Amino acid sequence: MQVKIAILGYGKRGSIYARYAQNNSDKFKVVAVAEIDPVKREIAKANHNCPVFEDWRDMINSNLNADIIAIATQDVDHPEHAIACMQKGFDILLEKPIATTQEGCEKILSASKEYNRKVIVCHVLRYTPFYTKVKQIIDSGELGDILAVYTSENVGYYHQAHSFVRGPWKNKEQSSPMILAKCCHDMDILSWLIGKKCQKVASFGSLSYFKEENAPKDSANYCSDCKVDCVYKAQELYKKYRWMAGYFSQETDWRKIKKELTHSEYDKCVFRAGNDVVDHQACIFSFEGGITASHTMDAFSDKIYRDIKIHGTKAELVGIMEQNFLEIRPFGAKAKRIKIDKSKTAGGHGGGDEGIMEELYNTYNGLPTKYITLIDNSIESHKMAFAAETARITETIVHLK
Ligand SMILES: NC(=O)c1ccc[n+]([C@@H]2O[C@H](COP(=O)([O-])OP(=O)(O)OC[C@H]3O[C@@H](n4cnc5c(N)ncnc54)[C@H](O)[C@@H]3O)[C@@H](O)[C@H]2O)c1
Repeated sequence: MQVKIAILGYGKRGSIYARYAQNNSDKFKVVAVAEIDPVKREIAKANHNCPVFEDWRDMINSNLNADIIAIATQDVDHPEHAIACMQKGFDILLEKPIATTQEGCEKILSASKEYNRKVIVCHVLRYTPFYTKVKQIIDSGELGDILAVYTSENVGYYHQAHSFVRGPWKNKEQSSPMILAKCCHDMDILSWLIGKKCQKVASFGSLSYFKEENAPKDSANYCSDCKVDCVYKAQELYKKYRWMAGYFSQETDWRKIKKELTHSEYDKCVFRAGNDVVDHQACIFSFEGGITASHTMDAFSDKIYRDIKIHGTKAELVGIMEQNFLEIRPFGAKAKRIKIDKSKTAGGHGGGDEGIMEELYNTYNGLPTKYITLIDNSIESHKMAFAAETARITETIVHLK
Protein backbone atom coordinates (compact mmCIF):
# COMPACT_ATOMS: atom_id res chain seq x y z
CA MET A 1 0.00 0.00 0.00
CA GLN A 2 1.13 3.53 -0.80
CA VAL A 3 1.61 5.42 2.49
CA LYS A 4 -0.14 8.80 2.47
CA ILE A 5 1.92 11.40 4.27
CA ALA A 6 1.13 15.04 5.12
CA ILE A 7 3.87 17.47 6.10
CA LEU A 8 3.59 20.07 8.87
CA GLY A 9 6.58 22.41 8.40
CA TYR A 10 8.18 22.31 4.96
CA GLY A 11 11.63 23.45 6.07
CA LYS A 12 14.87 21.49 5.82
CA ARG A 13 13.58 18.35 7.51
CA GLY A 14 10.01 18.36 6.26
CA SER A 15 11.17 18.78 2.68
CA ILE A 16 13.64 15.87 3.05
CA TYR A 17 10.81 13.48 3.96
CA ALA A 18 8.59 14.94 1.24
CA ARG A 19 11.35 14.57 -1.35
CA TYR A 20 11.92 10.96 -0.33
CA ALA A 21 8.19 10.32 -0.76
CA GLN A 22 8.24 11.99 -4.16
CA ASN A 23 11.23 9.92 -5.31
CA ASN A 24 9.57 6.73 -4.08
CA SER A 25 6.09 7.30 -5.42
CA ASP A 26 5.40 3.56 -5.56
CA LYS A 27 5.57 3.62 -1.76
CA PHE A 28 4.52 7.12 -0.68
CA LYS A 29 2.28 10.01 -1.63
CA VAL A 30 2.50 13.54 -0.21
CA VAL A 31 -1.16 14.44 0.31
CA ALA A 32 -0.86 17.91 1.89
CA VAL A 33 1.63 20.43 3.24
CA ALA A 34 1.19 23.11 5.91
CA GLU A 35 3.87 25.81 5.92
CA ILE A 36 3.77 29.42 7.11
CA ASP A 37 6.45 30.69 4.72
CA PRO A 38 4.76 31.65 1.43
CA VAL A 39 7.89 30.97 -0.68
CA LYS A 40 8.30 27.47 0.72
CA ARG A 41 4.57 26.87 0.32
CA GLU A 42 4.82 27.66 -3.39
CA ILE A 43 7.82 25.33 -3.73
CA ALA A 44 5.86 22.56 -1.98
CA LYS A 45 2.88 23.08 -4.26
CA ALA A 46 5.06 22.93 -7.36
CA ASN A 47 6.94 19.85 -6.13
CA HIS A 48 4.06 17.76 -4.88
CA ASN A 49 0.98 19.06 -6.63
CA CYS A 50 -1.02 18.71 -3.41
CA PRO A 51 -3.14 21.06 -1.30
CA VAL A 52 -0.99 23.47 0.70
CA PHE A 53 -2.07 25.37 3.80
CA GLU A 54 -0.80 28.45 5.54
CA ASP A 55 -2.48 27.44 8.79
CA TRP A 56 -1.78 23.87 9.94
CA ARG A 57 -5.17 23.76 11.69
CA ASP A 58 -6.87 24.17 8.31
CA MET A 59 -4.90 21.19 7.04
CA ILE A 60 -5.94 18.82 9.82
CA ASN A 61 -9.53 20.10 9.72
CA SER A 62 -9.75 19.61 5.96
CA ASN A 63 -10.80 16.27 4.48
CA LEU A 64 -7.25 15.11 5.01
CA ASN A 65 -6.74 11.54 3.92
CA ALA A 66 -3.35 10.75 5.46
CA ASP A 67 -1.91 7.75 7.25
CA ILE A 68 0.66 9.88 9.02
CA ILE A 69 1.64 13.52 9.51
CA ALA A 70 5.33 14.41 9.59
CA ILE A 71 5.80 17.16 12.17
CA ALA A 72 8.94 19.08 11.27
CA THR A 73 8.25 22.45 12.83
CA GLN A 74 10.58 23.96 15.41
CA ASP A 75 11.22 22.18 18.71
CA VAL A 76 8.99 24.37 20.91
CA ASP A 77 5.96 23.82 18.66
CA HIS A 78 6.02 20.01 18.80
CA PRO A 79 3.62 19.44 21.74
CA GLU A 80 0.86 21.67 20.36
CA HIS A 81 1.18 20.32 16.83
CA ALA A 82 1.62 16.65 17.77
CA ILE A 83 -1.24 16.51 20.27
CA ALA A 84 -3.70 18.28 17.95
CA CYS A 85 -2.83 15.95 15.06
CA MET A 86 -3.29 12.85 17.24
CA GLN A 87 -6.56 14.20 18.59
CA LYS A 88 -7.73 14.35 14.98
CA GLY A 89 -6.82 10.68 14.57
CA PHE A 90 -3.46 10.87 12.78
CA ASP A 91 -0.27 8.97 13.53
CA ILE A 92 2.81 11.15 13.80
CA LEU A 93 6.33 11.08 12.42
CA LEU A 94 7.80 13.49 14.95
CA GLU A 95 11.08 15.30 14.51
CA LYS A 96 13.41 15.15 17.46
CA PRO A 97 13.50 16.51 20.06
CA ILE A 98 10.07 15.21 21.04
CA ALA A 99 9.65 18.42 23.08
CA THR A 100 11.91 20.89 24.84
CA THR A 101 10.83 19.90 28.36
CA GLN A 102 10.26 16.58 30.05
CA GLU A 103 6.69 17.64 30.77
CA GLY A 104 6.14 18.30 27.05
CA CYS A 105 7.53 14.86 26.16
CA GLU A 106 5.28 13.17 28.69
CA LYS A 107 2.22 15.04 27.43
CA ILE A 108 2.87 13.76 23.91
CA LEU A 109 3.44 10.23 25.22
CA SER A 110 0.16 10.25 27.16
CA ALA A 111 -1.71 11.72 24.18
CA SER A 112 -0.41 8.83 22.05
CA LYS A 113 -1.91 6.41 24.59
CA GLU A 114 -5.16 8.36 24.99
CA TYR A 115 -5.80 8.60 21.25
CA ASN A 116 -4.15 5.25 20.47
CA ARG A 117 -1.83 6.79 17.87
CA LYS A 118 1.71 5.90 16.84
CA VAL A 119 4.40 8.51 17.43
CA ILE A 120 7.54 7.59 15.53
CA VAL A 121 10.44 9.79 16.63
CA CYS A 122 13.02 10.75 13.99
CA HIS A 123 15.98 9.20 15.76
CA VAL A 124 17.29 8.52 12.31
CA LEU A 125 20.70 7.19 13.40
CA ARG A 126 19.14 3.88 14.44
CA TYR A 127 18.32 3.29 10.79
CA THR A 128 21.84 3.83 9.43
CA PRO A 129 23.78 0.85 8.10
CA PHE A 130 26.60 1.89 10.47
CA TYR A 131 24.69 1.72 13.77
CA THR A 132 22.58 -1.21 12.55
CA LYS A 133 25.85 -3.12 12.13
CA VAL A 134 27.10 -2.05 15.57
CA LYS A 135 23.88 -3.33 17.12
CA GLN A 136 24.16 -6.66 15.25
CA ILE A 137 27.73 -7.11 16.46
CA ILE A 138 26.75 -6.48 20.09
CA ASP A 139 23.78 -8.84 19.81
CA SER A 140 25.97 -11.57 18.27
CA GLY A 141 27.98 -11.73 21.50
CA GLU A 142 31.29 -11.31 19.68
CA LEU A 143 32.34 -8.52 22.04
CA GLY A 144 31.34 -10.47 25.15
CA ASP A 145 29.43 -8.58 27.84
CA ILE A 146 29.45 -4.85 27.23
CA LEU A 147 30.92 -2.89 30.12
CA ALA A 148 31.66 0.56 28.72
CA VAL A 149 30.61 2.68 25.74
CA TYR A 150 32.13 6.02 24.72
CA THR A 151 30.61 8.22 22.05
CA SER A 152 31.43 11.67 20.80
CA GLU A 153 29.70 14.11 18.55
CA ASN A 154 31.90 16.58 16.76
CA VAL A 155 29.52 19.26 15.55
CA GLY A 156 31.89 21.05 13.16
CA TYR A 157 32.92 24.69 13.66
CA TYR A 158 30.80 25.98 10.76
CA HIS A 159 27.73 23.93 11.71
CA GLN A 160 27.97 25.15 15.30
CA ALA A 161 28.23 28.75 14.10
CA HIS A 162 25.21 28.32 11.84
CA SER A 163 22.78 26.33 14.00
CA PHE A 164 23.82 27.00 17.58
CA VAL A 165 25.35 30.50 17.50
CA ARG A 166 23.41 32.35 14.81
CA GLY A 167 20.51 30.07 13.96
CA PRO A 168 17.36 28.41 15.34
CA TRP A 169 19.01 26.54 18.23
CA LYS A 170 21.14 29.36 19.62
CA ASN A 171 18.96 30.10 22.62
CA LYS A 172 18.00 27.52 25.21
CA GLU A 173 14.68 29.07 26.22
CA GLN A 174 13.51 29.70 22.66
CA SER A 175 14.58 26.24 21.43
CA SER A 176 16.34 23.48 23.40
CA PRO A 177 19.38 22.91 25.58
CA MET A 178 22.27 21.95 23.28
CA ILE A 179 22.58 18.46 24.78
CA LEU A 180 18.95 17.78 23.88
CA ALA A 181 18.92 19.49 20.48
CA LYS A 182 22.09 17.91 19.19
CA CYS A 183 22.69 14.83 21.28
CA CYS A 184 19.31 13.21 22.00
CA HIS A 185 20.32 11.07 18.98
CA ASP A 186 23.46 9.95 20.81
CA MET A 187 21.58 9.28 24.05
CA ASP A 188 19.17 7.17 22.02
CA ILE A 189 22.05 5.23 20.48
CA LEU A 190 23.59 4.62 23.93
CA SER A 191 20.32 3.47 25.43
CA TRP A 192 19.51 1.25 22.43
CA LEU A 193 22.96 -0.36 22.16
CA ILE A 194 23.33 -0.96 25.90
CA GLY A 195 19.74 -2.16 26.15
CA LYS A 196 19.41 -1.32 29.82
CA LYS A 197 18.08 1.60 31.86
CA CYS A 198 20.26 4.59 32.53
CA GLN A 199 20.27 5.23 36.28
CA LYS A 200 22.66 8.12 37.00
CA VAL A 201 23.98 11.09 35.04
CA ALA A 202 26.75 13.64 35.64
CA SER A 203 27.76 16.38 33.24
CA PHE A 204 30.01 19.40 32.75
CA GLY A 205 30.18 22.00 30.03
CA SER A 206 29.73 25.64 29.16
CA LEU A 207 29.61 28.32 26.54
CA SER A 208 33.27 29.26 26.51
CA TYR A 209 34.21 30.63 23.12
CA PHE A 210 31.35 32.27 21.24
CA LYS A 211 31.16 35.24 23.58
CA GLU A 212 31.83 38.96 23.18
CA GLU A 213 35.03 38.88 25.24
CA ASN A 214 36.57 36.65 22.54
CA ALA A 215 35.67 38.94 19.63
CA PRO A 216 38.78 39.92 17.65
CA LYS A 217 39.96 43.51 18.02
CA ASP A 218 38.29 45.84 15.50
CA SER A 219 35.68 43.23 14.50
CA ALA A 220 32.25 44.52 13.49
CA ASN A 221 28.79 43.42 14.63
CA TYR A 222 28.02 41.98 11.19
CA CYS A 223 30.42 40.00 9.00
CA SER A 224 29.41 42.06 5.98
CA ASP A 225 30.91 45.14 7.69
CA CYS A 226 33.94 43.35 9.13
CA LYS A 227 37.51 43.57 7.88
CA VAL A 228 38.96 40.95 10.24
CA ASP A 229 40.18 37.69 8.71
CA CYS A 230 38.01 35.05 10.47
CA VAL A 231 37.01 31.42 9.78
CA TYR A 232 33.45 32.23 10.85
CA LYS A 233 32.91 34.88 8.15
CA ALA A 234 29.27 34.36 7.18
CA GLN A 235 29.74 35.17 3.48
CA GLU A 236 32.41 32.47 3.13
CA LEU A 237 30.53 29.84 5.12
CA TYR A 238 27.16 30.30 3.41
CA LYS A 239 28.76 30.37 -0.03
CA LYS A 240 30.48 27.07 0.71
CA TYR A 241 27.71 25.31 2.65
CA ARG A 242 24.58 26.10 0.67
CA TRP A 243 22.39 23.74 2.74
CA MET A 244 22.86 26.15 5.64
CA ALA A 245 21.81 29.14 3.52
CA GLY A 246 18.46 27.38 3.00
CA TYR A 247 17.51 28.54 6.51
CA PHE A 248 17.22 32.17 5.40
CA SER A 249 16.95 32.10 1.62
CA GLN A 250 15.23 29.91 -0.95
CA GLU A 251 17.22 31.55 -3.78
CA THR A 252 19.74 29.56 -5.78
CA ASP A 253 21.75 32.51 -7.15
CA TRP A 254 24.57 33.38 -4.71
CA ARG A 255 24.22 37.15 -5.33
CA LYS A 256 20.58 37.01 -4.21
CA ILE A 257 21.42 34.77 -1.22
CA LYS A 258 24.17 37.19 -0.22
CA LYS A 259 21.74 40.10 -0.33
CA GLU A 260 19.33 38.29 2.02
CA LEU A 261 22.25 37.37 4.28
CA THR A 262 23.47 40.94 4.72
CA HIS A 263 22.60 42.28 8.18
CA SER A 264 20.39 39.27 8.96
CA GLU A 265 20.77 37.10 12.08
CA TYR A 266 23.02 34.83 10.05
CA ASP A 267 25.41 37.70 9.26
CA LYS A 268 26.04 38.40 12.95
CA CYS A 269 29.53 38.17 14.41
CA VAL A 270 29.73 34.77 16.15
CA PHE A 271 31.09 36.50 19.23
CA ARG A 272 28.12 38.88 19.48
CA ALA A 273 25.18 36.80 18.30
CA GLY A 274 23.27 36.72 21.60
CA ASN A 275 23.53 32.92 21.84
CA ASP A 276 23.52 31.10 25.16
CA VAL A 277 23.80 27.36 24.48
CA VAL A 278 27.01 25.53 25.40
CA ASP A 279 29.79 24.97 22.89
CA HIS A 280 31.17 21.89 24.62
CA GLN A 281 29.73 19.43 27.10
CA ALA A 282 30.78 16.10 28.56
CA CYS A 283 28.35 13.60 30.11
CA ILE A 284 28.87 10.42 32.14
CA PHE A 285 26.16 7.79 32.50
CA SER A 286 25.75 4.82 34.80
CA PHE A 287 23.45 2.08 33.47
CA GLU A 288 21.92 -0.94 35.19
CA GLY A 289 24.41 -3.74 35.71
CA GLY A 290 27.31 -1.35 36.35
CA ILE A 291 27.74 -0.45 32.68
CA THR A 292 29.30 2.97 32.20
CA ALA A 293 29.06 5.30 29.22
CA SER A 294 30.18 8.74 28.29
CA HIS A 295 29.26 11.20 25.59
CA THR A 296 30.99 14.40 24.61
CA MET A 297 29.70 17.08 22.30
CA ASP A 298 31.83 19.91 21.05
CA ALA A 299 31.81 22.63 18.47
CA PHE A 300 35.50 22.55 17.76
CA SER A 301 36.11 20.17 14.89
CA ASP A 302 36.93 20.78 11.26
CA LYS A 303 34.43 18.18 10.05
CA ILE A 304 31.09 16.92 11.33
CA TYR A 305 31.47 13.39 12.66
CA ARG A 306 30.46 10.92 15.35
CA ASP A 307 32.69 8.24 16.77
CA ILE A 308 32.15 5.33 19.13
CA LYS A 309 34.18 2.89 21.25
CA ILE A 310 32.59 -0.12 22.87
CA HIS A 311 34.43 -2.26 25.39
CA GLY A 312 33.23 -5.81 25.97
CA THR A 313 34.72 -8.63 28.00
CA LYS A 314 36.07 -10.30 24.83
CA ALA A 315 36.79 -7.48 22.39
CA GLU A 316 36.73 -3.79 21.68
CA LEU A 317 34.81 -2.15 18.82
CA VAL A 318 35.82 1.22 17.38
CA GLY A 319 34.07 3.20 14.70
CA ILE A 320 33.53 6.52 12.95
CA MET A 321 30.12 6.81 11.33
CA GLU A 322 30.90 9.31 8.57
CA GLN A 323 33.84 7.21 7.37
CA ASN A 324 31.90 3.93 7.60
CA PHE A 325 34.86 2.77 9.63
CA LEU A 326 34.23 -0.09 12.01
CA GLU A 327 36.83 -2.41 13.50
CA ILE A 328 36.62 -5.23 16.04
CA ARG A 329 39.74 -5.72 18.12
CA PRO A 330 39.46 -9.13 19.84
CA PHE A 331 41.84 -9.55 22.77
CA GLY A 332 45.03 -11.34 21.75
CA ALA A 333 43.95 -11.69 18.12
CA LYS A 334 44.11 -9.73 14.88
CA ALA A 335 41.85 -6.69 14.44
CA LYS A 336 39.05 -7.17 11.92
CA ARG A 337 37.60 -4.44 9.65
CA ILE A 338 33.83 -4.73 9.32
CA LYS A 339 32.16 -4.19 5.98
CA ILE A 340 29.27 -1.75 5.92
CA ASP A 341 26.70 -1.72 3.13
CA LYS A 342 27.72 1.53 1.44
CA SER A 343 24.87 1.40 -1.07
CA LYS A 344 22.68 2.88 1.67
CA THR A 345 24.98 5.34 3.40
CA ALA A 346 25.07 8.21 0.91
CA GLY A 347 21.87 9.96 2.02
CA GLY A 348 21.30 12.34 4.94
CA HIS A 349 22.56 11.25 8.38
CA GLY A 350 24.58 8.34 6.99
CA GLY A 351 21.49 6.89 5.31
CA GLY A 352 19.27 7.30 8.39
CA ASP A 353 16.86 9.71 6.69
CA GLU A 354 16.07 7.15 4.01
CA GLY A 355 16.18 4.30 6.53
CA ILE A 356 13.42 5.77 8.69
CA MET A 357 11.19 6.23 5.63
CA GLU A 358 11.75 2.60 4.60
CA GLU A 359 10.77 1.49 8.09
CA LEU A 360 7.71 3.69 7.91
CA TYR A 361 6.67 2.02 4.70
CA ASN A 362 7.20 -1.39 6.30
CA THR A 363 5.16 -0.37 9.35
CA TYR A 364 2.10 0.51 7.28
CA ASN A 365 2.46 -2.53 5.08
CA GLY A 366 2.69 -5.11 7.82
CA LEU A 367 6.31 -5.88 6.94
CA PRO A 368 8.89 -6.66 9.63
CA THR A 369 10.26 -3.56 11.37
CA LYS A 370 13.19 -3.99 13.68
CA TYR A 371 14.16 -0.63 15.01
CA ILE A 372 11.08 1.53 14.89
CA THR A 373 11.68 4.43 17.23
CA LEU A 374 8.33 4.72 18.92
CA ILE A 375 8.02 7.42 21.56
CA ASP A 376 7.70 4.73 24.26
CA ASN A 377 11.39 3.93 23.95
CA SER A 378 12.65 7.19 22.42
CA ILE A 379 11.60 9.10 25.52
CA GLU A 380 14.46 7.41 27.43
CA SER A 381 17.03 9.37 25.42
CA HIS A 382 15.26 12.61 26.28
CA LYS A 383 15.20 11.76 29.99
CA MET A 384 18.98 11.25 29.78
CA ALA A 385 19.44 14.60 28.01
CA PHE A 386 17.28 16.52 30.50
CA ALA A 387 19.15 14.85 33.35
CA ALA A 388 22.49 15.81 31.77
CA GLU A 389 21.39 19.43 31.51
CA THR A 390 20.24 19.48 35.15
CA ALA A 391 23.46 17.79 36.24
CA ARG A 392 25.54 20.35 34.32
CA ILE A 393 23.72 23.34 35.77
CA THR A 394 23.48 22.09 39.35
CA GLU A 395 26.85 20.29 39.37
CA THR A 396 25.19 17.22 40.89
CA ILE A 397 24.60 13.60 39.98
CA VAL A 398 21.03 13.18 38.75
CA HIS A 399 19.30 9.88 39.54
CA LEU A 400 16.77 8.71 36.95
CA LYS A 401 13.64 6.84 37.96
N1 LIG B 1 16.27 14.22 12.87
C1 LIG B 1 17.30 15.04 12.80
O1 LIG B 1 18.43 14.62 12.79
C2 LIG B 1 17.10 16.53 12.74
C3 LIG B 1 18.04 17.35 12.13
C4 LIG B 1 17.81 18.72 12.11
C5 LIG B 1 16.68 19.25 12.69
N2 LIG B 1 15.79 18.42 13.32
C6 LIG B 1 14.56 18.94 13.94
O2 LIG B 1 13.57 19.09 12.92
C7 LIG B 1 12.71 20.18 13.22
C8 LIG B 1 12.71 21.14 12.03
O3 LIG B 1 14.03 21.59 11.82
P1 LIG B 1 14.49 22.16 10.40
O4 LIG B 1 15.96 22.07 10.40
O5 LIG B 1 13.72 21.54 9.31
O6 LIG B 1 14.07 23.69 10.60
P2 LIG B 1 13.41 24.66 9.52
O7 LIG B 1 13.38 25.98 10.17
O8 LIG B 1 14.12 24.51 8.22
O9 LIG B 1 11.94 24.07 9.35
C9 LIG B 1 10.84 24.39 10.13
C10 LIG B 1 9.74 24.81 9.18
O10 LIG B 1 8.52 24.92 9.89
C11 LIG B 1 7.84 26.06 9.39
N3 LIG B 1 6.87 26.48 10.42
C12 LIG B 1 7.11 27.08 11.59
N4 LIG B 1 5.97 27.26 12.27
C13 LIG B 1 4.98 26.73 11.50
C14 LIG B 1 3.58 26.60 11.66
N5 LIG B 1 2.95 27.06 12.76
N6 LIG B 1 2.86 26.01 10.67
C15 LIG B 1 3.50 25.56 9.56
N7 LIG B 1 4.83 25.65 9.36
C16 LIG B 1 5.56 26.22 10.31
C17 LIG B 1 8.95 27.09 9.15
O11 LIG B 1 8.55 28.12 8.29
C18 LIG B 1 10.01 26.17 8.53
O12 LIG B 1 9.88 26.08 7.14
C19 LIG B 1 13.25 20.80 14.51
O13 LIG B 1 12.53 20.28 15.59
C20 LIG B 1 14.67 20.30 14.56
O14 LIG B 1 15.22 20.25 15.84
C21 LIG B 1 15.97 17.09 13.34
